[in-house]
Amino acid sequence: MESKLVQLISQTEIAATVGRLAQKLDRDYENLSPMLVGILKGSFVFVADLVRKMKTPIGNIEFIRLSSYGSSTVSSGQAELVVGLSEETIRGQHVVLIEDIVDTGITTDTALRYLKKCQPSSLKLCALLDKPARRQVPVTIDYLGLQVPDRFLVGYGIDFDQKYRQLPAIYVLEKLDGSDR
Ligand code: IMP
Ligand code: MG
Repeated sequence: MESKLVQLISQTEIAATVGRLAQKLDRDYENLSPMLVGILKGSFVFVADLVRKMKTPIGNIEFIRLSSYGSSTVSSGQAELVVGLSEETIRGQHVVLIEDIVDTGITTDTALRYLKKCQPSSLKLCALLDKPARRQVPVTIDYLGLQVPDRFLVGYGIDFDQKYRQLPAIYVLEKLDGSDR
């Protein structure tokens, strides 16, 4: 199927959003040496930019991985932890989970439950993008970048079938049959 990319969020807007989130985290986590946990793979670009904008010393940066959509643009309805962390890594830490996009909420909810079991001192969620239209599981986003419409997005770490992660801005992937899914 042919497709085209239509820019939705520019590099400038992303940078401003990441800067704003970094400032908020700096303020809330001053002297707390927070631990950032990114969800692979989609958050890797966001995490890399966010930590370089934060001034508060970060105690640790870790990643977990959950199963994703595979090569479909529709969520399978289940998330599975593929790569986790030892409980000791999390226990007693001020953890901020970093997600690229909260869509159905299934991935984020699974990740939050997993981290909570490991007994962090505190646990918050920071998401660059929120697509509330498709939410199936309620998720509280403590630090939100931008709300986005119900479109399939790529770029800035976010993929379709593992492609487009390298794009510096965020695009709608439009299928040329008239639909975008
Ligand atoms: P959820 O479990 O449905 O909330 O989906 C979360 C994950 O699905 C995100 O971390 C993304 O990796 C992926 N995802 C959600 N929406 C999109 C999209 O528009 N484009 C590409 N990946 C997406
Ligand atoms: Mg994905």
